[in-house]
Amino acid sequence: MKINKICCIGAGYVGGPTMAVIAKKNPEIQVTIVDINEERIAAWNDEDVSNLPIYEPGLAEIVEETRGKNLFFSTEINKAIDEAEMIFISVNTPTKTYGKGKGMAADLKYVELCARNIAEVATTDKIVVEKSTLPVRTAQAIKSILHNTGSDVNFSILSNPEFLAEGTAIEDLLSPDRVLIGGESEDAIESLANIYGSWVPQDRILRTNVWSSELSKLTANAFLAQRISSINAISELCEHTEANVNEVARAIGMDSRIGPKFLNASIGFGGSCFQKDILNLVYIARSYGLNQVADYWEQVIILNDHQKRRFSDNLISTLYNTVSGKKIAMLGWAFKKDTNDTRESAAIYVADHLLSEQANIAVYDPKVSDKKVQNDLNYLNTRTSEENRDLVTSYSDPYEAVKDAHAIAIMTEWDEFKTYDWKKIYESMKKPAFIFDGRNILNKEEMNDIGFEYSSIGK
Ligand code: UDX
Ligand code: ADP
Repeated sequence: MKINKICCIGAGYVGGPTMAVIAKKNPEIQVTIVDINEERIAAWNDEDVSNLPIYEPGLAEIVEETRGKNLFFSTEINKAIDEAEMIFISVNTPTKTYGKGKGMAADLKYVELCARNIAEVATTDKIVVEKSTLPVRTAQAIKSILHNTGSDVNFSILSNPEFLAEGTAIEDLLSPDRVLIGGESEDAIESLANIYGSWVPQDRILRTNVWSSELSKLTANAFLAQRISSINAISELCEHTEANVNEVARAIGMDSRIGPKFLNASIGFGGSCFQKDILNLVYIARSYGLNQVADYWEQVIILNDHQKRRFSDNLISTLYNTVSGKKIAMLGWAFKKDTNDTRESAAIYVADHLLSEQANIAVYDPKVSDKKVQNDLNYLNTRTSEENRDLVTSYSDPYEAVKDAHAIAIMTEWDEFKTYDWKKIYESMKKPAFIFDGRNILNKEEMNDIGFEYSSIGK
């Protein structure tokens, strides 16, 4: 099928950057991204591209280049669905917060609504592409909804999981390690492969059956998260011996079978994918009665929760067992650098724990708004929004955030933190001045020379 028009449902962290790159690389195809969230679409259409709803290095430039030419953002969902030959479903699939599978299974409500919407509106044949991360066999559900519409429209369903990482989304999209397309219809697979083929070499475009494609996405994220939990487990052991986790990571990473990437010990992984996908994997394994498989993967999450908890426990015990009434400055709130995304960020859980110990928290993050910080804490429902507002203050100047603080906790590895005038910071803080470096980005000797009581992960 020749594709002239693409519709993408969901203008989020996946849909936005992915479609921007597809539009840039396929100027003859009209790409329309639709969303039910009017505010979000308005932000994508903001003349000033620094106001886009998502921050990703390189994204604003591509949007500026393609928007209004062959890339459009709209709330007219039905119109875009009807006109397109290919529709990407790129909506959120959060962990269920109610009913069966609560806290474990993916909530497919939004995906199902999309499928029903497509079924209702479509008058011509469509290729429907699952882009959101979904449990294995979701394509079957989408297929069943689409094929029971009573109309004679033909739908081909493809699974095309996204492997981009936030903060490097544009780079990852422009030169992906691989593109994965799972499907039954060879024609549909080739139509999508052609779109990617305009910039991705053919030998990097893998074709599989739908189920392998769906499961590969969950597996890739589970393996990546497992590496982080593995090195974080070793970091705790390092703290009790005289080993240094950076040295251990370097030594094992030089084994080409292990490789050097994704071995940075940290306060624990965050982000919208890892935890959700592993919980999903665990839930699916349990539902087939595969308890050993489920327990094995669940341990990755248990260790991650432990890592976050022991960071805040350590901070409290170091501050003479009380943080009550003390100002703790948190540098970074995003779940990693170069993004404004805070979903599942370790900072949220560490802050929540410290707040329960009556700390006052000052937050500085170069890309995260105060509104987001407050929303993240309110979402946990640990205390009222008024209490959160009283105890947590966001600053736009890092030097103001740390002034008179008893301790600094580094939560995100933003590059700018390394370039601060740490001597000036030391002078403005309460003494003894503590730094808890949750990302191992500062130099211990330098910090000690200035006068800080400095601790990091795994050393
Ligand atoms: C991840 C996958 O990498 C990506 O392929 C998939 O499409 C979506 O999920 P993302 O969550 O955006 O991407 O970021 P990633 O770089 O994987 O980092 C996830 C978390 O792990 C972050 O909190 C990061 O700080 C942490 N991390 C990463 C570590 O703690 N140590 C590391 O060595 C690497
Ligand atoms: P992701 O990281 O997977 O891209 P986001 O939450 O950033 O997740 O984006 C998903 C987007 O999908 C949100 O902007 C949400 O409003 C949108 N969305 C959810 N359900 C629908 C729907 N039925 N129709 C259109 N848009 C939807």
